[in-house]
Amino acid sequence: MRAGSGAGRRNDRFTERGETSDRAESLRQEEYLQRAAQEVADLEQEIGRRPTCCVTTFGCQMNARDSEKLLGILRRAGYAISESEDADFVIYNTCTVRDNADQRVFGRLGRLSHYKKSNPHMKIAVCGCMTQEQGNVDRLRKSYPYVDLIFGTHNLFRFPEYLYRCLRGEKRMVELWEGTGRIVETLPVERRYPYKSGVNITFGCDNFCTYCIVPYVRGRERSRSSEEILEEVRRLAADGVTEVMLLGQNVNSYGHDLPGELSFPELCRRVCAVEGIRRVRFMTPHPKDFSDELLEVIREEPKMARHIHLPMQSGSTEILRRMNRRYTKEQYLALAEKIRTRLPDVAMTTDIIVGFPGETPADVEDTLDVIRRVCFDNAYTFIYSPRRGTPAASMEPVPEAQIHESFGQVLAQVQACARERCSRLAGQVLEGLVEELNTQEAGYVTARLSNNTLVHLPGDASMIGQYHRIRLDEDHGFYYFGQIVTEQESNG
Ligand code: SAH
Ligand code: SF4
Ligand code: F3S
Repeated sequence: MRAGSGAGRRNDRFTERGETSDRAESLRQEEYLQRAAQEVADLEQEIGRRPTCCVTTFGCQMNARDSEKLLGILRRAGYAISESEDADFVIYNTCTVRDNADQRVFGRLGRLSHYKKSNPHMKIAVCGCMTQEQGNVDRLRKSYPYVDLIFGTHNLFRFPEYLYRCLRGEKRMVELWEGTGRIVETLPVERRYPYKSGVNITFGCDNFCTYCIVPYVRGRERSRSSEEILEEVRRLAADGVTEVMLLGQNVNSYGHDLPGELSFPELCRRVCAVEGIRRVRFMTPHPKDFSDELLEVIREEPKMARHIHLPMQSGSTEILRRMNRRYTKEQYLALAEKIRTRLPDVAMTTDIIVGFPGETPADVEDTLDVIRRVCFDNAYTFIYSPRRGTPAASMEPVPEAQIHESFGQVLAQVQACARERCSRLAGQVLEGLVEELNTQEAGYVTARLSNNTLVHLPGDASMIGQYHRIRLDEDHGFYYFGQIVTEQESNG
């Protein structure tokens, strides 16, 4: 009988938060994974085919990395990974940074209910940042009764246990923690790309920018020990990964919570020194903590990517103050100019919020001024979205018409700069990592340069994961078409 209760009921010995050590917790989850695997094997017998799973990711790189962990667990439990949401176990790993992220999830959940009607074995789980918000959980419970499992960001490492209980027939499980000091990172991972990987270095955020929900849904900042990080990088390299991206909400404050730990720049040096690693990226640095030492590491270490994503948010000192960003327009400009002068081959990208409460046309002029002066290689521009419980949500909103006008101005300036910066690369020969087949053009592959620019070039699937010297022939404004050049050509 599948929908049993006895063995499926949670064992109370294990439910207390923080009761078990991280090692004991890992072993415990391993055990649950084995039990879940038995359930999946039984299900396979029953339905006469291998059960499938699908994890859909919303949001940032951190969520993408979490999804790889979820897929690793599902794969080890015996599921076949599918791209289709018409699967036997579907997880939505959600983002709540802006309201449209929430709405996308609610919209798509509706579609899942149709699949579930025709597949009685289907299980639906929702996890990630959205579920750390009580309002969202209430709505899920009330209007989406076919969701079998809801869990949060702090207890993701308990997914094997939740999976097992769900497979045993427990219904409408809600497993949420308000926070955790724990980092349990020993579960299996199913990497999306064989040649590149994210590596978490910190979790959570302590900055409390007044518009941002991340500190509330991801909790206080916690660093992983550098030993663990380096061990993970070595394992990844041994497994064929050549590019890593060090992930955290504010990577420059890495280690501040661990006495005697390496600084972020030193960590970068050590990661570069791992044999087999050819490129090191990081996401995201905060301008207030960006040190000269980090600039030095990027200058000296060719493996450090020629790309810095430096979120500006606004060019107006007054808006920055109200955002609690803790730098001024002048400080941001000084840092950006230092990067441009000391690291002339490094691309700079940024994030900009338009329509923060109280923003005037003069504030937008300041933003446009910084964009023009730094001339970003690219920028993500967002319309401000009030998030419940954040300080900015109770500030006076900007009229919509004004926001749209400002947004148009900012976007136009960003695009003009991006084109200008891209055009400077014409004719250069640079190293690209071939990432995938080109989806638009048969017989082409797409490579990423160290500076994050994409280049399409003739090629086939056998080239994926390889590094090639590529001549940038045709400028298409934001990307290139190019050709591989041989050593001789590139020297001559
Ligand atoms: N930790 C990173 C970014 C995390 S969120 C940093 O400090 O830069 C990614 C981006 O989403 C932010 O840089 C910001 O531009 C945008 N963002 C965050 N909250 C937002 C909100 N309430 N409305 C609109 N954009 C927001
Ligand atoms: Fe949000 Fe600010 Fe933390 Fe980035 S640094 S995650 S924008 S609070
Ligand atoms: Fe979104 Fe959570 Fe990332 S809110 S941006 S998925 S940390």
